[in-house]
Amino acid sequence: MGSVVVLGIESSCDETGAGLVRDGRLLGHAVASSMDEHARYGGVVPEIAARAHVHALTPVVRRALDEAGLRMSDIGAVAVTTGPGLSGALQVGLAGAKSLAYALDVPLHGVHHLAGHVAADTLEHGPLPDPCVVLIVSGGHTSLLLVRDLARDPIVHLGDTLDDAAGECFDKVARVFGLPYPGGPAVDRAARDGDPAAVAFPRPLTGPRDAPYDFSFSGLKTAAARWAEGHARAGRELPVADGAAALQEAVADVLTRKAVTACRAHGVGTLVVVGGVAANSRVRALAEERCGAAGIELRVPPLRLCTDNGAMIAAVGDLLVRAGAEAAPLDVSIDPSAPL
Ligand code: KG4
Ligand code: ZN
Repeated sequence: MGSVVVLGIESSCDETGAGLVRDGRLLGHAVASSMDEHARYGGVVPEIAARAHVHALTPVVRRALDEAGLRMSDIGAVAVTTGPGLSGALQVGLAGAKSLAYALDVPLHGVHHLAGHVAADTLEHGPLPDPCVVLIVSGGHTSLLLVRDLARDPIVHLGDTLDDAAGECFDKVARVFGLPYPGGPAVDRAARDGDPAAVAFPRPLTGPRDAPYDFSFSGLKTAAARWAEGHARAGRELPVADGAAALQEAVADVLTRKAVTACRAHGVGTLVVVGGVAANSRVRALAEERCGAAGIELRVPPLRLCTDNGAMIAAVGDLLVRAGAEAAPLDVSIDPSAPL
């Protein structure tokens, strides 16, 4: 099958995204977020997220079409996130995608959320080299992957977090530091005025006998909480900027060290860093520094494509369509805890 305009729909968490991609090119995309509605609860509330998707889905598709200067009838295939994610949230996106595919009489493709994050980079930098190492760092995942052909070959998991995801660590520690939700961007901002060497936070799972590509962030979260409690007990004001800078340094150090080791061990010349935490300024800077020193090409998609969006789902759909992949049946279901 040749190329067609692929509509991608993403609704796995608190962002409702729609994107239009043809032949590897991004034509238009729009995102609505229910983040503000979750802020006072300190985390995403599944019920609120699902209802927000119902509210936002059709307008977001409309906005993406308008941005691309296209009409509904121009859509030649629909791709949708089927998992992993919040089940109620995923169901809204899938129901919408199925209805559109059925009404337009075009194929429907189910897409794994993480494959979407990987493919996001192709919209900015072109096809991914085969093979490449991908570091996915978001609120729900921290994984090192060996990726070949996204449309044909299974993605190989080199390592994963054994407990919290890196973004979750930022979000939880931010709460302890009294920073607003979502914590990642707040820590990043606060860290600008801090000294990363002010606190010696641990570098979990970096010992010679530790699993080289697995991660652990719950100990780091506990260390940060203890450090904050120590100040509270002593009646000292918490130097939030220093804590944020030191936390960010520890996370960025572990992530980039392991990613570069994985590239070296597998003889891979390209590292792709994707997911919400790829927006972190220190993760980006340290990845650049270490990849530069190791002669590894670093690819990081622009911020708007790093966080959850529909364009990345459309990008996978476009690859599947061009590879001649079989469409999903219209009774396809969500898979909230989908393995990769
Ligand atoms: O990929 P994403 O939008 O959603 C999924 O989890 O799938 O990632 C969201 C995560 C949140 O934990 C958020 O705090 C984190 O990415 N994040 C950041 C930054 N921007 C977003 N973490 C650190 N620094 C940032 N600048
Ligand atoms: Zn995500």
